[in-house]
Amino acid sequence: MRKLSLLLVAGFFIQAFNVCHSAPGNNRRRLLMDFGWRFSLTDTVGADKASFNDSKWRVLNLPHDWSIENAFIQNASTGGGGGYLPTGVGWYRKHFVLPKSVISKNVWVEFGGVYQNSDVWINGHHLGHYPNGYMSFYYDLTPYIKTGENIITVRVDNSLQPNTRYYSGSGIYRHVWLNIADPLHVAQWGTYITTPVADSASATVVVKTKIENNNGASKDAVLRSIVLDAKGNEVGSTESPFTIASKNNNELEQKITVSSPALWSLETPSMYNLHSVIVYKGKVLDEVTSTFGIRNIKYDVNKGFMLNGKQVKMNGVCLHHDAGSVGAAVPEAMWVRRLQLLKDMGCNAIRTSHNPVAPEFLDLCDRMGFLVQDEIFDEWKAGKVKYGYSNYFDQWSQHDLVGFIHRDRNHPSVVMWSAGNEIGEQKQPKGYEILRPLIETFHREDPTRLVTTGNDNIAADNGSATLPFLQMLDIVGYNYVDRWHERRELFYSIDRHDHPDWKMVGTESVSISGIRGSYYGGGFGGIDSSVIRPANMSSLIRAEQLWKYVSIHDYVIGDFMWTGIDYLGEARWPTKNSSSGIIDLCGFPKDAYYFYQSQWTPKPMIHLFPHWNWRGKEGKVIQVMAYTNCDSVELFVNGKSFGIKALEFPRQGNSGGWNRYDRPPVNTTTGDLHLVWDVPYEPGTLKAVGRKGGKVVVEEEIHTTGMPAAIRLSVDRNTINADPSDVAHVKVEVVDENGYVVPDANNLIQLTVEGAGNLIGFDNGNPRDSTSMKSSQRRTFNGLALAVIQSDSKPGSIRVQASSPAIKATSVEIITQKIKTPVATIENLKK
Ligand code: GAL
Repeated sequence: MRKLSLLLVAGFFIQAFNVCHSAPGNNRRRLLMDFGWRFSLTDTVGADKASFNDSKWRVLNLPHDWSIENAFIQNASTGGGGGYLPTGVGWYRKHFVLPKSVISKNVWVEFGGVYQNSDVWINGHHLGHYPNGYMSFYYDLTPYIKTGENIITVRVDNSLQPNTRYYSGSGIYRHVWLNIADPLHVAQWGTYITTPVADSASATVVVKTKIENNNGASKDAVLRSIVLDAKGNEVGSTESPFTIASKNNNELEQKITVSSPALWSLETPSMYNLHSVIVYKGKVLDEVTSTFGIRNIKYDVNKGFMLNGKQVKMNGVCLHHDAGSVGAAVPEAMWVRRLQLLKDMGCNAIRTSHNPVAPEFLDLCDRMGFLVQDEIFDEWKAGKVKYGYSNYFDQWSQHDLVGFIHRDRNHPSVVMWSAGNEIGEQKQPKGYEILRPLIETFHREDPTRLVTTGNDNIAADNGSATLPFLQMLDIVGYNYVDRWHERRELFYSIDRHDHPDWKMVGTESVSISGIRGSYYGGGFGGIDSSVIRPANMSSLIRAEQLWKYVSIHDYVIGDFMWTGIDYLGEARWPTKNSSSGIIDLCGFPKDAYYFYQSQWTPKPMIHLFPHWNWRGKEGKVIQVMAYTNCDSVELFVNGKSFGIKALEFPRQGNSGGWNRYDRPPVNTTTGDLHLVWDVPYEPGTLKAVGRKGGKVVVEEEIHTTGMPAAIRLSVDRNTINADPSDVAHVKVEVVDENGYVVPDANNLIQLTVEGAGNLIGFDNGNPRDSTSMKSSQRRTFNGLALAVIQSDSKPGSIRVQASSPAIKATSVEIITQKIKTPVATIENLKK
C-alpha cells in the first residue's frame, strides 16, 4: 500500500515538475540548464574570460555538490559543523548556443541555490556577486548575449570556514534555468496569488501581477489571467488593459471568482494553475503559469491553527536541506520518498530549518499536503560562526528577504514565516529594532501569513528573550519550551497565564537523538550501563511528556520536533552527522518514528523494540517496549503470554471535560505513552497482539535470527523516469536463512551498477562510518544499507548487483522509461 502511494506521488511529481517549470507556449521559455557544465576545483586566474580554455575540465550535470564527493576527514576546515567534508573554491562553465531569434528577447539566468559567495559572468562580463548560499537568485543577461555560442561562468567560494552551523554542501547544488521572454513580460516571481475568500461554495482569487516593459517605447496591452483546475479546465478568468512606460514596471491587481473550488487541504491537496497572458494588438507576447492552491488559513488565540475552518494541530518536524548520501544536491524523487515516510508517520507540518529550501521542495509540500513554516535565517547581526550570515546581514538581509517572500508566497503549503532561528538579538535590549524591519517587510510583501522566530531563551537564566522582542512577533515561537525550570512540567502554561493574547507554537523541541537499531545503557549516574534499552530513552520520555501537553491544549498551534531526519554536520568526530532524526540518513525509521506514528495516525499499529538477538544474555531481564495506538497489547514470548498492557491518552477529563474522550475499554497499566514488559531473555519469537474494541486488529512479531546468510535487495520503484531528477532507492538487507533481517549485521557489501543509470550515494545510516558516500563498497549497519540509483536520460534498464564475502549475492533490475513531456532544456532550443 505504502509502495503504491509512493509510486503515485513520484509519478505525479515528475509530471508536476514539468507543469510548473515549462511555459505553455513559445513566447516564454524556462529552460533547464543543468547538463554539460565544465567544472574545476582549482581557483583559476582568467577562468572568467570568455576565451578561457576549459576543455580539460571535468564535465558534469547539475545539481552538483563537490563536498559530498570527498572522504570525511577529521581535520577538514568545516569541522564538525560542516560534517568534516572539504570545501574550497570551485569554478563552473556552461557553453550554450542561442539562435538569432533570442537576441531581441529578454533573457535571464536563474539559480536555485549556489553555496556560496558566487560570482557570475556571461561572455566575460561580470553580472554580480551573491553571498547567500541558500537563497535563489537571477541575473539579466539581455545586454550581453549573442547569436551562437555564449558562456556562463560561475565562481563559487566556500573556502571561508566555518560559515554555517550545519552541512551546506558546496557548488551549484540546485537547478539552473534560462528564461527567455518578450521585453514586455511578467517579472520573475512576478505573480502573487491569494484567496481571501475561500470556502466550498466559492473563492475569490486575487492576482497581483508585476509586468516589466523593457521596450524603448511605452506599451498599451492587456493582461489576461486564467485560472485552470488540476485537469486543465478553465474555471475563471479576467482581462485588464494596462499601459506601462518604457523601461518601467507596474503591478496590476485582478479578481477572479471560482465557484465550488476544490479546496487545498492536507487530505486533498488540490492545486490550480494561474495562466498569465500578455496580449498586445491581438498577439500573445508573454505567457507564464503559476501554481497555487485555494484555501483559507487562520490563527486563533484559543484554537490554534485553522485550515478551511477546521482546527489542525501541527504535527511537525524540522528538516535540514541535505539528504544524506547525496549531500545538498538532492534529486526530487529522494524528497518524495522522505516526505512520504513522514506522511506515513502522521506528520503534517515541516519547518524548513533554518534557511530557504529548494523551490521544488515546496512544490512537493504543496502536492503531498504538508504545512510549511518557511524559515529564512539562522543568524542576523549577532553571529554564531565566524564567517556566517552576520557578515552580510546589513547589506543583504532586506534583498534576500524580499526575494524569499516573492519566491515562496504562492505556495499553499507555506502557512507561516519564520524570520530566524535562535537569533542572538532575542535577548539584546534593542534586539527588537533588528526584528522590526524584517517583520515590516513580511507584512508588506505578504499580509496573509503570520511571522514567528524560534526563540530558545524565553526563560533563560543567563539573559532571557526581551518582552518587546517577543511581543513584536505575530506568533511566539518556542525552541525547547521545556528547557527552563518548572517549564519542564508546565510547558506553555506559565506564558499563557501571563500573556493570554499570545499565539504560541513549538518551533523546535526535544532533540530526540538515537541511533537506529542500537541499544545499550546510558550509564548515567551509576545506572547499569549493560542494561539493554535505547540510549536516548530519556529523550523519548521527554517527547511523550511534551506531546501530552501540546496535543490537549488547543491554543498551542503545534510542535516541530528536532528533527524529522538525520542531517550531515553538527557532529563531533568520529561521528559526521547529527543523529537527532527519528529517521536515519538513509531514510530508515528509528524507534522514535513509531512513537509519533502511534500518536499521530489512527491505523492500528504496534512497534516492538529492541530486537531479539541477545546471544549470551539468556535469562537476563530485558525490557520489551511497544508503541501502539491500540486499546491494548498482549505480549507473547515463544507462545507464552506476558500479559495485556494498555495506556490511556488522552484521558477522560483532559481539557474539554469527561465527554470529550472515550472511556478506556480496558484497565490502563501505565500513564506513559509506551508499554513495557520485563522479559527474561530466551531466543525465539516475540509476538504482540493489538486489540481495539475487544477485537484483534494488528499483530507484530520479531525473531531471534540466525547468522547472515544472504543479501536481499528491494527497490522502492522498479520503473523510474529516464530523467536525472528521478532515482530509485535500493534497500540492502542482510538476512538469515529464514529471510529475517539480522539486526546487528555489518557485512561488507560490494555494489555494481550497470546500464542506464549510476550509483550516486551509498550509505548505511551509521553516524560513525566515514566511508565516502560515493564508494560502491560499504558495510551494512545493523542489517541495512541504502543505495541511490539515478537514471540517466536514456530509456533502458539498470542492473544493481550486491555481493559480500561468505553470504549469497543477489541483484535487482530497474527500468528507466521515456517521459512523455520531458522538461525543456537549453539544448532543445532550436530557433
Ligand atoms: C537547536 C538549534 C538547532 C540545532 C539543535 C541541536 O538549539 O536550533 O539548529 O543546533 O539545537 O540540538
